[in-house]
Amino acid sequence: MKKNKIELALIFGGKSAEHEVSVISARNIVKAIDRKAYNIALVWIDKKGDWFLANEKELLEDKIFSQKKSALQEVIPFAKDNKFFLKIGKDNKKVDVVFPILHGPFGEDGTIQGLLKMYNVPFVGPSVLGSAIGMDKDVSKRLLKEAGMPVAKFLVYKEMEKDNISFEKIKRNLGLPFFVKPANLGSSVGISKVKNKNEFSIAIKNAFAFDSKIVIEEYIKGKEIECSILGNEKLIASVPGEIIPTHDFYSYEAKYLDENGAKMLIPANISKSLVKKIQALAIRTFEILCCEGMGRVDFFLTEKDEIFVNEINTIPGFTSVSMYPKLLEESGIAYAKLINNLIGLAIDRHKKESRLKMKR
Ligand SMILES: Nc1ncnc2c1ncn2[C@@H]1O[C@H](COP(=O)(O)OP(=O)(O)O)[C@@H](O)[C@H]1O
Ligand SMILES: [Mg+2]
Repeated sequence: MKKNKIELALIFGGKSAEHEVSVISARNIVKAIDRKAYNIALVWIDKKGDWFLANEKELLEDKIFSQKKSALQEVIPFAKDNKFFLKIGKDNKKVDVVFPILHGPFGEDGTIQGLLKMYNVPFVGPSVLGSAIGMDKDVSKRLLKEAGMPVAKFLVYKEMEKDNISFEKIKRNLGLPFFVKPANLGSSVGISKVKNKNEFSIAIKNAFAFDSKIVIEEYIKGKEIECSILGNEKLIASVPGEIIPTHDFYSYEAKYLDENGAKMLIPANISKSLVKKIQALAIRTFEILCCEGMGRVDFFLTEKDEIFVNEINTIPGFTSVSMYPKLLEESGIAYAKLINNLIGLAIDRHKKESRLKMKR
């Protein structure tokens, strides 16, 4: 008997500063995905937040931004009979599973996850809670600290305290330099390394421009090590990889603007026992932060072999050269198989949730 194809909606783009990365991730997923198993609806959320149906050819040929918006069909998501549909022109297209490949706020922070949950459709990656926690550097660090995980010393400030943040107090507590970050963002946007009092007020202003809460952190001198996690309950941790930025730190410029901004070392050149420790810490981090499906856990490794958890990324970069898929590929899970596994995990979780009782 011929198996029916799964109707997949790949949602990409989005309102965050990471729109372009998301488009590249989507392109790579389309190129690699098993077409015998999936029909794909390409849903492009533009920077304003409007939903359009993208054309596969335009996406593959990198012409998505040169199209006239008026020529594109609008996409309206809706649910009927507790099933998820996309209204595209006159068509109502049923969707079995969604892969939201959206980075940063409105994509990785539980917002679209909540929307999809309301529509009762399975989706790839962590659910509402894990996504929201993973996006918030204050909440995630507090949970990790409470669980006894190694994290850098940090302080948190709200916007109303903005004019009373004392450089001297921070210097006394955390030493110099230190890092100033918006609590909810990614891609190093709004992040500064502060080496003296002159740089301090600019860094504070810059971070508060992006969020009403900021995190100030002790500087950890060391290697930047990353580890990919795949699974819902039974978790696979990949071999760790290393990012070697050629800039002062792994800044937005180093990530996206400078082609030679960073080197990737896969696998990382570290001892077997450190590999094991990092994998175990990555799994614990994923569990503590209530994640499911996928996540990339980032670490600092000092010269004395001390390990610090830096953060989790619940929708990591998914381009063919991104760390998340590369590390799993190195661990024996090729890109196309990874996509398949992630979709399977999304469907499994949804099935489990559907069995839960709603009424007494
Ligand atoms: N405490 C720290 N010590 C040393 N470097 C840091 C620290 N925090 C951040 N960095 C540098 O800044 C980069 C971005 O910070 P990160 O917390 O990972 O934010 P984002 O979510 O934007 O990636 C890191 O990859 C690292 O290069
Ligand atoms: Mg990071």
